[in-house]
Amino acid sequence: MAERIDGKEVAGEVIASVKKEAARLLKEKGVQPGLAVVIVGEDPASQVYVASKSRMAKECGFLSAHHELPADAGEAELVRLVEELNADPKIHGILVQLPLPKQIDAGRIIQLIAPEKDVDGFSFVNVGKLGTGELGTAFVPCTPAGSMLLIERVRGKDLSGLNAVVVGRSNIVGKPMANLLLAANCTVTIAHSRTKDLPSVARNADILVAAVGRPEMIRGDWVKPGATVIDVGINRIPAPERGEGKTRLVGDVAYAEAEKAAGAITPVPGGVGPMTIAMLMANTLTSACRAAWTEVPEF
Ligand code: GUN
Repeated sequence: MAERIDGKEVAGEVIASVKKEAARLLKEKGVQPGLAVVIVGEDPASQVYVASKSRMAKECGFLSAHHELPADAGEAELVRLVEELNADPKIHGILVQLPLPKQIDAGRIIQLIAPEKDVDGFSFVNVGKLGTGELGTAFVPCTPAGSMLLIERVRGKDLSGLNAVVVGRSNIVGKPMANLLLAANCTVTIAHSRTKDLPSVARNADILVAAVGRPEMIRGDWVKPGATVIDVGINRIPAPERGEGKTRLVGDVAYAEAEKAAGAITPVPGGVGPMTIAMLMANTLTSACRAAWTEVPEF
């Protein structure tokens, strides 16, 4: 039976370290890390995510600025806000929650965020730095960065020669994940919906990362014995066994099957999920340390 990788525990350790380093930065340099979170509209899932990001920032001792624009806000209004935040020296991290309403060009807004405050790591500058291995000055997107920490807990920092398969090619998870694994000396395959014979590609993986957004698509017999399995998916599915209208969360991996073959596996919930928010705090602290010309802690 596989080791269950406890993302809550690792995220808790990251947060404890962020709190300690934030206190040190304030004491030694008089700098308090500042995170601005921007939401446009009332999408309930986004509201929940954004509220927990703002709450965690406060808990870490950060200045936490929460900006809410109405669902019908124009692009010009959001542009003005991002420009203000770019120019505000108290703000070290800017996060504009996605998706944005249709009338706003999300691509334009993402590229407007100053790269040195882009704690999501979505701007071309940060994508380029990750792609060329300039990890010392990049911001790495939070979910892949958190997944990487979990992989390192199981396998150590040097993953030389291991076969890594990333299922999913999104800009937010799949592509940056593949780049991180490549930087750690893995042999990397990116698989996706057009990949031929996906099960046999997956079976080659010493490290298998699932980020497709399809509930329990990856079956137990796709998992190489002893593999490290990282499940990024969070899918809500009907759970009539819990009562009428009830739902439950599952990942992209059929956990009960996969844990029989895997060496280690992340659960859903409680795996990658808690890491995403912890890495957002880590990125914001990193940004504040860079702005204060002080050493950046390692996570
Ligand atoms: N929406 C869902 N996940 C994310 C994320 O990581 N960053 C932003 N900005 N929006 C999101």
